[in-house]
Amino acid sequence: MRIGVLGFGNVAAATIERFMANHELIHAKTRTAIQFVRVATRTPARAEGRLPEGCVVSSDCWGLVDDPQVDVVLELTGDVPLSRQLVLRALFNRKHVVTANKALLAKHGEEIMALAEEVGRNVLFEGAVAVSIPIIKTLRESAAANNISSITGILNGTSNYVLSQMSEHDADFAGALAEAQRKGYAEADPTLDVSGEDAAHKLTLLASLSFGVPIHFSSVQIKGIQDIDPVDIGFAKRLGYQIKLIAQAVMEPEGLNVGVQPMLVPMTSMLAQVSDSMNGIALYGDLLGSAFLYGSGAGGRQTSSAVLADLIELANLGGTRVESGAYNMGFRHGHRKAEVVRYTRERVGAFYIRLRLDDKAGVLAGVSAVLAQAGVSVNALLQDEGQHEQSDMIVITHDINSGQLNKMLPALSVAAGAGNSVAIYPVLGSH
Ligand code: HSE
Repeated sequence: MRIGVLGFGNVAAATIERFMANHELIHAKTRTAIQFVRVATRTPARAEGRLPEGCVVSSDCWGLVDDPQVDVVLELTGDVPLSRQLVLRALFNRKHVVTANKALLAKHGEEIMALAEEVGRNVLFEGAVAVSIPIIKTLRESAAANNISSITGILNGTSNYVLSQMSEHDADFAGALAEAQRKGYAEADPTLDVSGEDAAHKLTLLASLSFGVPIHFSSVQIKGIQDIDPVDIGFAKRLGYQIKLIAQAVMEPEGLNVGVQPMLVPMTSMLAQVSDSMNGIALYGDLLGSAFLYGSGAGGRQTSSAVLADLIELANLGGTRVESGAYNMGFRHGHRKAEVVRYTRERVGAFYIRLRLDDKAGVLAGVSAVLAQAGVSVNALLQDEGQHEQSDMIVITHDINSGQLNKMLPALSVAAGAGNSVAIYPVLGSH
């Protein structure tokens, strides 16, 4: 099985290096021998002396996807517009594709998977999501017989690192982000990490694999970690929670709810224990019950583990055979549920509300009246002694509807006093 690699960044370099280092082991596990024959990169000089014997490097990416000597195109560029065209061309030329490009699949996955289905070729992407966690194979194969009810994860190592540093070491946001960049966790553009977009790319793929819905990135609600006030991290801890960037797809009675946002996670939850740059994923299925997967979310060597596993899978399916293996997105194309699933923004659950109040008589009574009027029952309450004639009041509600909360917000702001801030975070429930 002859591989052509698009790109020669950290992941491609690590994949080829680890393939050579573990060659005997990989050979012992594959029915068809894997051979790297060609690399195309903008900077061929970077690859010189780092490739196996017989593997040639050039800058000709179109020549690679048109090369009849290449059976599998390994797309590791990180680019989106050009890689879309290259991947479509590779499929058109009847080549299998392996990629770690989550942005590409989140945005163009429908088009790519439709062509793959039409031409009977595989598109494998274990390296696109939470690299050390085999979540794609878990959803596509190990959990294939389950009706999944929810999938909840910490899917971005950089933002998890930043939040952990802020929570555990009182670091400031900018310093922690610079450190994550220095350690090589962050995307080339780290705003993708902290804005929640990178986690949303990954969640889009997991939602499609879990629920059989089309890959629909624009339906994901996204809120990042940029505006988290450290004060809320401190209050959350005092109340027994960590603030984490949570990516979640849940089948609610009204439809599928798919979102990425900072949430309060109870310290007792395994997700609260996922710190630094690690990733974690909780999965609920009607047969398996609950499962929790934990591992590294970033790193060239870790990504090479997933990418090489995809190549080994293809080699064991015969390498060039037509119509082989499980469906790329788990479900047969015609059986996917585009028409029956509607995306919803409604959420029923508990919420953390922090009100910065003028520290004077009657304000608390005003806030209580608004909560009572809206039928919101309070589960936990904390008031800080405050400073500069202001104090913070934190309410954790019992389960309410997000619509109920939004309706109450204007009255709550008035009760808090003009110019005073209100911060709201959903609290992660048990499913
Ligand atoms: N920037 C990503 C992260 C790398 O921080 O998780 C892996 O997708």
